[in-house]
Amino acid sequence: MADPDMRETRATQARYNRIAPVYDLMELLPERRYSSWRQRVWSLVEGPQVLEVGVGTGKNFPYHPPNVQITGIDLSDRMLARARRRAEQMGRALTLRQMDVQAMDFPDNTFDSAVATFVFCSVPDPVLGLREIARVVRPGGRVVLLEHVRAENALLGRLMDWLDPLVARLMGPHINRRTVDNVRRAGLTIEQVEDIGARGIFKLIVARV
Ligand SMILES: C[S@@+](CC[C@H](N)C(=O)[O-])C[C@H]1O[C@@H](n2cnc3c(N)ncnc32)[C@H](O)[C@@H]1O
Repeated sequence: MADPDMRETRATQARYNRIAPVYDLMELLPERRYSSWRQRVWSLVEGPQVLEVGVGTGKNFPYHPPNVQITGIDLSDRMLARARRRAEQMGRALTLRQMDVQAMDFPDNTFDSAVATFVFCSVPDPVLGLREIARVVRPGGRVVLLEHVRAENALLGRLMDWLDPLVARLMGPHINRRTVDNVRRAGLTIEQVEDIGARGIFKLIVARV
């Protein structure tokens, strides 16, 4: 498997470390909309061992189903510190580790499912990260993603391409990712793609290893 681009990966980590103190505030308004989407995502998860990639500040923790064992990873130590605090406040026993999804420390077939919400817009090499997920989730295991992607509308798509470098530098995520294609390119089998918001910019993607 290819090695991650360490310069880009360090830059992504630095961006999220910088954003960590204001992330929850930035997401306050959109979160009202995301809440029902997060519920959908977690209703599709199959345990017992579940990997959450890019836990951020722990916004998914209230939606974690009971009776599953969650392991959460994130590249940013400062996002993770907030996630740890949230887990403690909620009295949740979950494992949190600082780790890059592009090169995970877990043995093959460790998990029954993997989940990521708004993460593959930020991972420097999304196909590499998705291949790693395919490695650590057992054959037949489910991968559930909630992502914003490049618009299918040609004009809007080109505008997103144009704005992307600035948005990524200021805020972290890339706004022109072709995540459905990336899931296929990583060798996962797509079960379902649902346009859930903003005329297909927000997608729920369900795949199997
Ligand atoms: C937009 S935030 C989303 C956080 C959370 N999933 C949510 O729904 O609010 C993206 C998160 O992905 C993490 N991330 C980016 N690249 C990563 C990588 N290569 N490996 C692990 N986490 C990564 C960032 O540090 C950040 O916490």
